[in-house]
Amino acid sequence: MNRSIPFGAPWMGEAEEKAVAAVLRSGWLAHGPKVKEFEQAFAAHLGVKHAVSVSSCTAALHLSLLALGIGPGDEVIVPAQTHVATAHAVMYVGARPVFADVEPGTGTISPASIRRGLTPRTKAIIVVHFAGLPCEMDDILKIAENQNLVIVEDCAHAVGTKYRGRPAGTMGAAGCFSFYPVKHITTGEGGMLTTDDDRIAEQANKQRAFGIDVPAFYRQKPGVYDTPILGFNFRMTDIEAALGICQLEKADGRIEARIANAGLLTDRLKGIAGLELPVIPSHMRHSFLFYQLTVTEGFLLTRDALLAALKQSGIGASIYYATPVHLMTLYRQTFGYGEGLLPQAERVAAETIALPVNPRLTAEDMGYIGDVIRAASRNEVPGA
Ligand SMILES: Cc1ncc(COP(=O)(O)O)c(C=O)c1O
Repeated sequence: MNRSIPFGAPWMGEAEEKAVAAVLRSGWLAHGPKVKEFEQAFAAHLGVKHAVSVSSCTAALHLSLLALGIGPGDEVIVPAQTHVATAHAVMYVGARPVFADVEPGTGTISPASIRRGLTPRTKAIIVVHFAGLPCEMDDILKIAENQNLVIVEDCAHAVGTKYRGRPAGTMGAAGCFSFYPVKHITTGEGGMLTTDDDRIAEQANKQRAFGIDVPAFYRQKPGVYDTPILGFNFRMTDIEAALGICQLEKADGRIEARIANAGLLTDRLKGIAGLELPVIPSHMRHSFLFYQLTVTEGFLLTRDALLAALKQSGIGASIYYATPVHLMTLYRQTFGYGEGLLPQAERVAAETIALPVNPRLTAEDMGYIGDVIRAASRNEVPGA
């Protein structure tokens, strides 16, 4: 009988229900004490000086670029294989995204391609730790140092990701996390900007809430505030923060479970002709938001036929990302990008499948996914 294996379902429990109910009873629903508590817990978990909560990772990226002074006339190098939000944030501040190719097989930004994209207008690099695998930060930090560039880390896939023992979100000027439902931890919608830089934290802190100097909860005199700079409404609610506190407490164990599930899947898929499995260099910790499987021409079925077989067998697989951002209409039309310019990013789009390894899945589930793929590789009825 077919199973039903979701790609990434949020995992909420009694603790979350109680925490949300307590916030509802407290009467303080937004930008209040739970938000502060979540920020402190997140900063401590990462080992970073500041964690500024926001309404999404997109908002964190936007505020990071603003705080770094990126604007019109500037160029920011971003990987072509990412969510559109990474490039959109560059557009929000009036700068130009310059797309770089990714490493074969991993989907992380290629340092060689970054070098090719440098111009006198380049001001920053946004790295995306892809699927939970960190970018090759030694090379990228060296480029940034030599060229006097800043690095923003898009950590939407990267709670628990480490590079030479350093957590993602602590290596650049700012880290930007997402708490959207399919992520390692979720608050429904939500995000966090992490930084060791007091000035970035201070500016983001103000700009997430209209540019106001003192949020309502912290005012000495009610209703009295000033607005020194232009800001947005990118605030997190206390309901979201209460969820985040509970989710963060469980994050380490759940990431270990993801890593274990990925190991089980690799054991099952080893030796199947035409598949390329994730390779994890020893200096990296892959936190496995999902499992990137590359389906080459040597596999019996096409990538899309395998996707269909997985779906038929009740397995919630996906593609990250089916269209590289430079080939989205907005970026093609605005900057003239076309096919063939960034071949590895296009290869990820055409040949990979993102498989679920979320922590609720059991060893039997991993075995089932492996069996379905092995059966497909022999042209047998998957899951039968
Ligand atoms: C790599 C990457 N960056 C940014 C985002 C945007 O995150 P959010 O939905 O929290 O704004 C996502 C969302 O999935 C993402 O995958």
